[in-house]
This record gives sequence, C-alpha cells and structure tokens, in this order.
Amino acid sequence: MRADQLRAAMVDGLLAAGRISSAPVERAFRSVPRHLFLPDEPAARAYEDEAVLTKWENGVAVSSASQPSMMAIMLEQLALRPGHRVLEIGAGTGYNAALMAEMVGPSGSVVAMDIDEDLVQGAAEHLAAAGRSATAGQVTLVAADGALGLPERAPYDRVVLTVGSWDIQPAWWHQLVPGGRLLLPLTVRGSQLSVALDLLPGPPAHLSSASVRSCAFVRLRGLGAGPESSRSLGVDGVTVQTAERRELDAAGFRALLGEPGRQRDSRVRLAALDLWDGLGLWLAVREPDVCRLLVSADASARTPSLRPAGMDGGTVALIAERGMAVLVPKDDAPSELDRRFPVAVRPYGSDGAAAAERLAALLEDWVDAGRPSAAELRLRAYPRDAEIAANGSVVHKAQSLLVLDWPDNPVARGHILNQ
Ligand SMILES: C[S@@+](CC[C@H](N)C(=O)[O-])C[C@H]1O[C@@H](n2cnc3c(N)ncnc32)[C@H](O)[C@@H]1O
Repeated sequence: MRADQLRAAMVDGLLAAGRISSAPVERAFRSVPRHLFLPDEPAARAYEDEAVLTKWENGVAVSSASQPSMMAIMLEQLALRPGHRVLEIGAGTGYNAALMAEMVGPSGSVVAMDIDEDLVQGAAEHLAAAGRSATAGQVTLVAADGALGLPERAPYDRVVLTVGSWDIQPAWWHQLVPGGRLLLPLTVRGSQLSVALDLLPGPPAHLSSASVRSCAFVRLRGLGAGPESSRSLGVDGVTVQTAERRELDAAGFRALLGEPGRQRDSRVRLAALDLWDGLGLWLAVREPDVCRLLVSADASARTPSLRPAGMDGGTVALIAERGMAVLVPKDDAPSELDRRFPVAVRPYGSDGAAAAERLAALLEDWVDAGRPSAAELRLRAYPRDAEIAANGSVVHKAQSLLVLDWPDNPVARGHILNQ
C-alpha cells in the first residue's frame, strides 16, 4: 500500500475508535505525513497505531513518536483554534508540532522545544521533508529545557507537554494568557494522567481541569525531572511505584513476602485495564498508602502467592505499618487476564488482615460508585503555598498543590468529604 493510503487507513481507524472526534483534528491527521517524521522506519510501521521509540539513554527510552491514538486524544483535549499561539515542550520528531501548525493555521504559531539538540535538528529535517520548513514562520524549534517555558515568546494560548511531568512548573501557567489552557501528562500518586487545565482568575488564581484521560509518556528530564517513581524492593523482579506516605524498606518487604495470609475473596470482577485507569486511580486518589507493584513472571513463579492482577505484571498494594495487602486474581481466574476476571486480596504480615479489609472495602466502594475512571475525575492545581479550603484529596508537589475529586459522583464525594 502507498503511504497516502496507509495514512488514510490510520485516520479512518482513529475516527472509528472515537479517538478523533472533531473536523480540525481529522484534517490535520489527513494532511501531515507521519512517515516523513520517522524516516528510519518502513511507512507501514509509521502508520500503525503504535508509539515508535526513537532514542534511549542507559537503556531507558527518552524520546518517541507518540502513539497516534494518544496524540489524537490530546489534540482533542487541547481544543486548538486558528490564530492560537502554542508552546510545545517535547518536540521529539516534530510530528505533533506539524499537526498543531495545521490546526492553528497561518495566523497562529507553534514553538516546539526539546532538551536535546540532536532531536531538534532531526525535527527540523523532518519538517522540511514534509514541506513545513521550521523557518517558514509557523513552527519554531528551540533546543532548551522546557521546565522554564520560553518567556521571550510568551504569552501563549496553549502550553502543551508531550512528555510526562511529575509537577506543574510555575513558568507554564505564568506564560499562559488569561483563560489559556495547559495540557500535560501529569503523574499523580503513580498514575499518569493527560490533564487539560484552564487558567481561572480566582481568587486564588488556579488551574481547573476541563478533561482528564489516562496516558503513558516518557518522563521529563532536566530541571523539572521528578523523583524516581520506581524503586527496587530488594527482591529480584519486584519494583514499587510511589507509596507517597510510607517508606518501604527492602528487608521488611522481603520478610513480609514470607508471611502470606489467607486470601480474602471478593465479589468484584475486573479487567486488567481497570488496575490503571479506573480502580487504580480511585485507590490513588482515596488512599495515600496505596502503591503499585510490578512483579515479573520469574518473581511470581518464586513467590506464587504474589500473582499480579493487572497487565504486564502490575498490581496494587496497600501498605501498613507491619504488613500489606495485595490485589491478586482469584484462584479460579483464567491464566490469561484478557477479559473481566474475579479478584481477591492477599494479606501479608501481622497488619495484613486489617489492610486487606480496607483494600477490599475500597474495591467495593469503587464498584458502588459506578466504577469511575479518569474521564470523570476533576483536578485543580494551585501554587504550592496557596491557602485553600480543599474539597477533595490533596496532593502536595514541590511547585504545586493538587486537589482531586469526582465532583458528580455521590459515593466519591461522600468519602472525600469525610477524609
Ligand atoms: C514522547 S517525546 C515527544 C513526541 C513529539 N511530540 C512528537 O510528535 O514526536 C518526549 C520528548 O520530550 C523531550 N524532553 C524531555 N525532557 C524535556 C525537557 N525538560 N524540555 C524539553 N523537552 C524535553 C524528550 O527529549 C522527547 O523528545
């Protein structure tokens, strides 16, 4: 198939899946040839709905052409209009900058930054190959750390990160026009969320989410890089992602794994995806002592009680003083977790039974609340020292203070208000 036919098929697929839902986003995807931004890949690969990793450092992916589905979701969240001035942090291949340039038109502008000079150079070549010269005025590429934004070109109608951030840097919202929108993949207690935040005057001035979706992006490097979110627990093949309140010590964790208690079965059936977008997020917002565990197949084979309930060896655990409770598939769950399967909670250690009871109760609450997901979550962000009457779960970051709630969900509201 020719590249233009492959592109048409990709866009048709994104429309059919509901990832593209507006005419401007569809037009942009139809007109920008993705394969010219991935010159080292066969065209067929460039038009698969997949992220393509393009650069690694020490074995960790640091740059990629993002998955077209995710790009479409974010471009819909961004709500670009002709004439908008846009700052993108994470130029990568330059493909997203080209899509945005199509959407803002000749009266608008896109400034795309990347921390790596070689990536900026590559993006300039890709844009030129696609007939969208970076010097033609509409797209400007800048090699610099995006944590500080780009004040000399501010203000912007939209600031968008296409790289995952742990925090919201003050520069990003200070460089927005009043009513402008910041869109970023933001880590919240181990979940990464693509959050579109509108700048509201207040008082106090703050950012309020217009939409929230789940996502998975490579992480911001440089000045704004967050703390390591994954830690080894001294057991081969087991890592933990952010338990915010409690420090887990490796020796204690190893000992706990030797003290499994009797599994507590639940009535709840889950899909593996729920571990991230639905239940995983519900637990993260409701309970700071919840963390995510990643358990390799080898580690699970060595410790059969520790069978992960999610995709790619992931599951959730509630950590207590001298114990923990881990979500596992029920004994009669199928070995392939590709459909909804029944779950149970496995206690470990002397405090494990109480933790298991709490985790099981949170699980039931989530079902009673109608299995809410990221799409219904509201997130507000304030400067870190703002004095606010928080109506929701509060997460303190280095530069910002986040308040999360499910405003339209009576079950969630009742619990959050009682916290
Ligand atoms: C997922 S890629 C972006 C994909 C890109 N938007 C595209 O269309 O190809 C994330 C990019 O963010 C860049 N990045 C990481 N930290 C950064 C920082 N502090 N400032 C600017 N760019 C950064 C990486 O080098 C990487 O190229």
